Amino acid sequence: MFISSTVSVPETLKTPCHIAIIMDGNGRWAKKRFLPRIAGHKKGVEAVRGLVRAAIERGISYLTLFAFSSENWRRPPDEVSLLKGLFLGALEQEIDELHKNNIRLKVIGDISGFGARIESLVASAEKRTIENTRLTLTIAANYGGRWDIMRAACAYFRAHPNVLRAPDDSEIRPEMIEPYLATSDLPEPDLFVRTGGEKRVSNFMLWQLAYTELYFTDTLWPDFDARALDDAIASYQQRERRFGRTSEQVQATRTAKTASAVDTAS
Ligand code: IPE
Ligand code: IPE
Ligand code: MG
Repeated sequence: MFISSTVSVPETLKTPCHIAIIMDGNGRWAKKRFLPRIAGHKKGVEAVRGLVRAAIERGISYLTLFAFSSENWRRPPDEVSLLKGLFLGALEQEIDELHKNNIRLKVIGDISGFGARIESLVASAEKRTIENTRLTLTIAANYGGRWDIMRAACAYFRAHPNVLRAPDDSEIRPEMIEPYLATSDLPEPDLFVRTGGEKRVSNFMLWQLAYTELYFTDTLWPDFDARALDDAIASYQQRERRFGRTSEQVQATRTAKTASAVDTAS
């Protein structure tokens, strides 16, 4: 019988440890103001700065932001090139500040698509900030969930070629490929947020979102501020994360934990 890897139920904390966000709505934000789309993207970068601050103040340890999907290459070349320029500018200008604030920067996605300059800036920023512990800020750039899973599966089987020679598949378990995912050193997201009103995941972290609480808001990304983040967290705090169990089981576990905490304290 196949038993899910979620058989060990993660602990649910009041504040989400890891929030993953699809930052959508920059174009519409600009259009509403009769501005070019790039003005929305620029304002979006400002929103990222504010959100990083807000996340730290709220004790969030991991923030993952979808900045450019593997499908965004389909956009007009001008927009793609301006987005690349904004990414490059942010890498050049923000790293000192991130480092000063004890923030680790990580980039997931096939960044070779952005050229050598961005690739080398990413590598040096990741190396410089790797020991930082206050917040891990992960930027998903030229990232696709299918790409991530496909790449992880290939890497796993390349490292374990004998598995394919086994007589059946019973030895293969989903968690075996997890160490090969781009997010292998991050916990799974507790809370997913998509701004901009669309209710889809657009090929973002398909594997990792299996048990994440989903939150959709009409707020456009440039308007997503600390208060909007609090609304998302408040919604998360009202959820009951069952991970396949019944509500009664969840309550019983909670009661047992409270009792043992009281025992330890007395
Ligand atoms: C999200 O905003 C930013 C990127 C995808 C790079 P959009 O550019 O998708 O904004 P809308 O959806 O057109 O409003
Ligand atoms: C998702 O937004 C990708 C990012 C925010 C980087 P899109 O605007 O590209 O998503 P779709 O095309 O509406 O699904
Ligand atoms: Mg969009």
